[in-house]
Formats: sequence, structure tokens, C-alpha cells
Amino acid sequence: MTTMTGTPAVTGAVGTAHTRVEGVAKVTGAARYAGEIPYAELAHGWLVVSTVARGRIRSIGADAVLAMPGVLSVLHHGNAPRLDIDYVGLLGRPDPTLAVFQDDRVPYLGWPVALVVAETSEQAREAAEALVVEYDEEPHDVAFAAGRDGTYTPENSAVEKGDVEAELAASAVVLDAEYTTPEEHHAMMEPHAAMARWEDGRLEVVDSNQGTMWVAAELANLFSLDPTSVRVRSEHVGGGFGSKGIRVHQVCAVMAATALQRPVRVVLTRRQMFSLTGYRSPTVQRVRLGADADGRLRAFAHEAQNLSSTVHEFIEPSAAVGRAMYASDAHHSVNRVVRLDVPTPTFMRAPGEAPGSFAMECALDELAEKCGVDPIALRVRNEPDAGPVSGLPFSSRNLLACFEEGARRFGWADRDPRPGVRREGRWLLGTGVAAASFPSNAMPSTAAVTAEADGTFTVRINAADIGTGARTALTQIAADALEVEPGRVRTRIADSDFGPAMIAGGSMGTRSWAWAVTGAAKELREKLALGGTVPPEGITVRSDTSEALAALAQKERYSFGAQFAETAVDVTTGEVRVRRMLGIFAAGRIVNPLTARSQLVGGMTWGLSMALHEEAVRDAASGGHVGADLAGYHVAANADVPLIEADWVEDTDADDPVGIKGVGEIGIVGAAAAIANAVWHATGVRHRHLPIRPDRVLLAGAVAPAGAGVSVGAGAEGPDA
Ligand code: MOS
Repeated sequence: MTTMTGTPAVTGAVGTAHTRVEGVAKVTGAARYAGEIPYAELAHGWLVVSTVARGRIRSIGADAVLAMPGVLSVLHHGNAPRLDIDYVGLLGRPDPTLAVFQDDRVPYLGWPVALVVAETSEQAREAAEALVVEYDEEPHDVAFAAGRDGTYTPENSAVEKGDVEAELAASAVVLDAEYTTPEEHHAMMEPHAAMARWEDGRLEVVDSNQGTMWVAAELANLFSLDPTSVRVRSEHVGGGFGSKGIRVHQVCAVMAATALQRPVRVVLTRRQMFSLTGYRSPTVQRVRLGADADGRLRAFAHEAQNLSSTVHEFIEPSAAVGRAMYASDAHHSVNRVVRLDVPTPTFMRAPGEAPGSFAMECALDELAEKCGVDPIALRVRNEPDAGPVSGLPFSSRNLLACFEEGARRFGWADRDPRPGVRREGRWLLGTGVAAASFPSNAMPSTAAVTAEADGTFTVRINAADIGTGARTALTQIAADALEVEPGRVRTRIADSDFGPAMIAGGSMGTRSWAWAVTGAAKELREKLALGGTVPPEGITVRSDTSEALAALAQKERYSFGAQFAETAVDVTTGEVRVRRMLGIFAAGRIVNPLTARSQLVGGMTWGLSMALHEEAVRDAASGGHVGADLAGYHVAANADVPLIEADWVEDTDADDPVGIKGVGEIGIVGAAAAIANAVWHATGVRHRHLPIRPDRVLLAGAVAPAGAGVSVGAGAEGPDA
């Protein structure tokens, strides 16, 4: 037993760089991921997915593969248990395609038609590849295009203020341009994997996800189980980015474990992930801006369109990004959807803001050019004092401080605004800028903090550390609230038995969890300060932030940032190289500069990847992807990524107990636009379609005539290939 009084108070962990508390375990391989944990009697499930994009399953040749070595079972629509898909979950009504093997319909290519379970993963795979499935194929339609037939406006997806058409007509300068972004994938390092087993009447799932409470609740709903009889854990996660919620692999694992009454693991292949784990929809976005000659906005109009599956609606809210950004007399923004024979898209890092900021921030740059105003000055001119549409006050808005600091460090003042005039050998050089914003919110969470008899503390919270450093941040936060060294705090996360907590999503995880941890830790410290001894079982204090969050005043709550990029464009090959990027953010109090910087730099790197590389190509004939792997889908690799710096300005959130806003998503916002704007500045050609591939650069005309030393592209309007 330890006497708790008289311990000198320690604070200051928050704001100090701290390596990951699980860092050694990760680099030594001691940290186990869901796909590699050994279990006695573990069987392995391998998915068989459809090879047609629409139709019905005519037959499944299960008997032939059941005779193969090690094969235990083939689950399909003819023998699988019935699931309940008629419920309202954490995110509303579930995607019906979650209910696998329920009928013979095939809604898209890559849809699960069977699960082969065998003693080893190799046996399961061999049998899955040998399984003959016959289909009655029907014509499919995967052609995504602006305003194509079937495009509709979902309820509550439009916002209107003033008369946009009248303000456009009265504007001295008008910009009207269409931008597109392609289908993009999360491409996290660790594939989806789940082990399910029944233990003492409880379903136990060991998974890789962004929220065990979320997955446990969905599984309870789907299998009609008492929620308390489902336990989901997810200790280490190799990236999620919005893709690791409830997915078919968990459902399949539970089905097979129930049917066989032994542990079953299902791991998805990279190829299967392209059709089974969500993606970012392609977008078509029209932006119309009307301004006075000095660049003051009179009209702001942003119309976006994305696709979704035939069975479930997902809106990529690209057109929502401007609603909190720029003052204008009139505002119109709307997100439209068209339903095709494709998998349902999902959240992907900065859903809405990532593609939306590309269109909006490029449009602002084009308007700046037309008005002859510096792009930063244009943003200063249109800075609102309150929410441009809502009229609500901002909790804090330090966007201009980001531009000021960024411009100083990037050397913006020396910039020659003329495009296409800087040349270095075969490279044309340019710089570009864009703004970034992302909502800053918190969701109800519970936490428990225990003073142990040995003088240490244990924090239990159902948080998820998907690589963000959340576990470390929460350890620092708990240490400060307890006034002890972080080394005395052990933080346990990602176990649905710890009780409800926010998922790792929406840049809300760390803020939501920190709020709960701070509450419990402070109360525990006060309790211990009264003196006495800690019994062997420890002293535990629990917290719940529901009431505190409900009492928060309505405000526009956002993080902001300024993105700068310098690019070099090879006039002979059309290759675009990013030479440097700088992002300055106002994203609340930074808990751990080391991991926060990594989040921001990671987001910016993805913005580079989005600008130049990423594009999932769907083949109209088959309805499936061309090159659904990390060879065919190019993400930026080390050689593509130059000097990327991220830093921040003071922006402590006064309404948050720790001052946090969240850094998970804002790093990607505006990054692709800054690069596209820099490509224009280099070449004089606007690239409105991502990615800015070499062939697009060449076709757009950024090529010097052979032997000519003249600058090219100045004023040129190339075709938008
Ligand atoms: Mo994120 S797209 O909120 O996981």
C-alpha cells in the first residue's frame, strides 16, 4: 500500500515531445496486429468475391472444394445464417452489403459470394481460388459523369444564402470552372483482419478498427446478440483513415466461428480491400465565384457530385467546405449523388474537405489571377468575422496568423506573380498557396482512471490508436491531470469492455478522449489529496463527458491552416516534382509535438500524393478496377516526397479542458490545391483534374518548342485532358 499524500506535483507533459509509449514494442515486433496473433485451434477464412459487376449467383461448386485438403466449410447464400440488417446504428442505417451471403444478388464486382474456411490460410486460399461460381450476368453501369442521368440532390445537402445568380450578374469578375478528382483509396499499410471466437457464452473479436464500441454494436445488431455479450479489442492498428469500421471481414469471421464453434480469422488481401473496405468517391465540382474588381466576393457557388452504390447512399460533402470559409453576399453549395453498380464509398481522411478544398482553393487562386490580387491578400479580403452562412461566432479563427507565419517562413513576399517565367534547365518553377480548414468537435466518452497500490496509475478508455499517437497523447494528458510523470501512467485502450467512447474519426478522437481522461484524473487527484492509503485493488474514478458536451455553446468550431508548395515541372516529360511544402496550422493546443507533426506531415504527404499520383481506374467493360493493388494504384513513395515542414501557431481552444482541436485530417486539406496552384505558377496552365499526370501536363501544352529557350505556357489555356 502506498500513501498518496506528499508527492511533489509534476506537470508539463502536454506540449512536450514524447516518443510513442508502445514504440519499442512496435519496432521490435512485440506489438501484435490482428492478423498475426496466434490462437489454439485457429481456422482461416478466405473470401471469394464476384467476378461480375451485376447479376445473380446461379451456382456455387462447394462440394468440389470441400474435398480439398484442410477445408472445413464453404459459407455462401445457400447455407449462411440469417442476419438482421434492419436497424439504425451509430452512423444511421447500415450499408445493406454488410449483410453478406443473404441472397444471390451481386451489386458490384468484388462482392463477397463465399467464404472458404480451412485449417491453414494456404489451404483456404487454394480452395477459394478453385471454387467455381457461375453467374447470371446483367448489364452494369459504372460511368460517372457530371449531371448524368440518375443524379439527384439528397435531402439537406444544399445551403442557400442570398441570390447567387443576381450577385454573379453584378460582379466585375466572374470565375466559372469545373474540377474533378478521381476515385481514391485509403491504402493503409495494415490490411483488414479479424479473429472471432465464442468464449464462455461471449463473442470475442480481435480486430483492426477505429472503434471497438462501434464494431461491437454493429455485430450485436447484425447477429441479434445482447450487446454485453460481444467484446471487441483492437490493440494496434496499422492505419485506418476512415476505412476501418464495420466491414465484411468481421461479419464473415463471426459467421464462421459460430458455424464451426472454433476461432476463425479472416484477413483481406490488398486486392479485396479495393472493393470491400470503402474508398473516396470520384467527384465533379463546379465552382462559380463573383467578385468586385478588388476581389471582394459577392457570390460563392460550389456544386459537387459524387457516386454511391445502388444499395446505399454515401455523400462526399465536397461542397460543404466553403460554408465556414469565405464571406460573400450570396452563397450556394450543394452535394449531389448518382447511384451506380459500384461498392459504397466511405469516409476517407478529410471527407468532403479534401476534394472540396482542391476545387475551392484552386478557384480562389484563379480568381486572384483574374483580379490581379495576391492569393493571400484575396483570402485576407474575404475573411469573415462570423460563420459566413450560419452567422455563428467562431470558437477561434487564426487562419490569417497561419498565412502570416507561413508567408514569412516560405519567402512569399519575394514571389513574382507572373506565371511561366522561372526556368532552371528543363524545369519550370512555381509556388502556390491554399487555405485549410477542418471541423473541431468532440463526442461523448467515458474513461476510468485507477490509482494503483504500487503508486502507478492505469487509464482505461475505449480509444483507438490507429497510428496517430493517441495512446501517448492520452498518457501525457493523464499525467498532467494527475500531476505525475508520464512514466507512472499506463494507458489501456481499444477494448469495448471499457465502456463507450468516441471512435478514432472526424479528427475528434484525441479531443473527445482527453476530455474524459482529464475529468476522471482530476477527480482522482482531488480524492487522493485528501490523504489515506490506496487499497490493493486501487482507487478508481470514472467519468462521462455527455453532459459537459451537451452544455457547449453553439459556435463555428474549426481548425485552420495555410499550405505552401513549390513545384518544378519538367517541360520535356511533363513530370511534376514538388520541391518543398510548408504547412502552418491553427489546430488547438498541440499535445505531443512529435506525433502531431507526424500527423500533419502525413496529411500533407497524402495531399501531394492526391495531387500527383493517386487514381483508381475503373474499367467500364468489366465494372471493376484496373490494377487493384499498390503497383497499379500509385501512392507517393519516399522518392516523391521532398522537404515537408509542418508547424503551428498558438490556438488553444478556450472551450476545451486541454485546449485541443484535433490534427488528424487538416494536414491533407488544401495541400493538393497549393500544388496545383504552384503548377499553374510554374507553367501558366491550370490543371483542374487530379492527378496532375505527366500526360495531362504534356497535352495541356507545358512543353517548350524544341530548342526554344522561351518561357512557355504564359497565358496559355490548354485543354483539360
Ligand atoms: Mo476519418 S475519414 O474521420 O477516419
